Amino acid sequence: MPTCTEFASVRARFPVFKNKIYLNSCSQGALSDAVEASLLQHIRSWHEDGSPWERWVEQYESARASFARFIGAQPDEVAIVPCASTGISAIASALNFSGQRRKVVMGEFEFPTMGQIWLAQQSRGAEIQFVAAKDGRIPASAYAEAIDERTLLVPLTHVCFMNGARSDVPAITKLARDRGALTMLDDYQDCGTRPVDVKALDLDFYVSGALKYMLCPSGVAFLYVRPELIRSLTPTITGWFGQRNPFAFDVKHFDPAVTARRFESGSPPIPHVYAVPAALELLGSVGFDRIAEHVATLAQALLAGARELKIKIKTPADTRGPLVVLQMKNSEAAVKKLASHNIVVSNRMDGLRVSFHLYNTLDDVGAVLEVLQENLNLTVRDLGD
Ligand SMILES: Cc1ncc(COP(=O)(O)O)c(C=O)c1O
Repeated sequence: MPTCTEFASVRARFPVFKNKIYLNSCSQGALSDAVEASLLQHIRSWHEDGSPWERWVEQYESARASFARFIGAQPDEVAIVPCASTGISAIASALNFSGQRRKVVMGEFEFPTMGQIWLAQQSRGAEIQFVAAKDGRIPASAYAEAIDERTLLVPLTHVCFMNGARSDVPAITKLARDRGALTMLDDYQDCGTRPVDVKALDLDFYVSGALKYMLCPSGVAFLYVRPELIRSLTPTITGWFGQRNPFAFDVKHFDPAVTARRFESGSPPIPHVYAVPAALELLGSVGFDRIAEHVATLAQALLAGARELKIKIKTPADTRGPLVVLQMKNSEAAVKKLASHNIVVSNRMDGLRVSFHLYNTLDDVGAVLEVLQENLNLTVRDLGD
């Protein structure tokens, strides 16, 4: 593992670790001193100047620029939205489902919001096809059977929120591209743990919120749109901040921005945008490649420990993290038991979710395993019979 002392000094910048072993970045990233300071900077500006909107709009553009840099895009290709659902809905509202291509093909590992938004488009002519998982994965070959010349869009979660399975993004986007379909990567469960290059991934749309592994508060998310597509998509979910010039205050004209800002709607989430450059700077100072390596080491350590304890694992064995999910007889009781030892994790259905970031250590993994070893009655065992 790369220089443990450096990771230990980063951990000291997250006060939650004074009292807890925090392993729940899949729900909410921990608060750093840097992000706290950025939020206080907003509060100070509000106290001191009342309504410094010019400065606040600068801050909003600075959040756009720093996120764009992080994903290898240009600021004009990025919309700032209050949540991922709003960004996805803006795109849905701009697509036409009355032609031959009206099918949306997605895996059953998507976060519910993805299913729900596209299912809502059925009344506009969309046809939705779900791809089934097998043995905890949805291989590219399963998508190959569903994506055809009638497919308009393939939404794809990078990492599944329920079991931590990682999608084969290059293979699935290539399949979609070869068959003329658009791709939308939902990176919410991975964004912040490794480098991202939306151009190298050849994506049409990329969406992510900032509250998990990007270590920001809720209320800010991002939508990247391939530049060649931006002007051809006119959202009907819109508002004044989506216009070419919001400050024209022109009630009688709908004049969408020529950049990805056209997918925005109303007043931006100003307190939250303050956090974005601060969080990305902190993550970038450690280095995204190194964070990815660190997270993979921790994920594999938990898998190895769970195997030794013969606990059934829901996450594919070759995982690089950040999310590892273990099968429980009673996942809620397991979360509570770990909480009684000051360990913060979460559960979905029968899965106990343990997620890793730059601030976690092998000792954290050991602490989880120790509690599970004492409470094997809560777990589903994999006794190989
Ligand atoms: C993969 C994934 N996509 C989307 C979301 C939710 O998006 P939002 O609440 O920002 O609309 C989540 C939240 O947990 C998620 O895990």
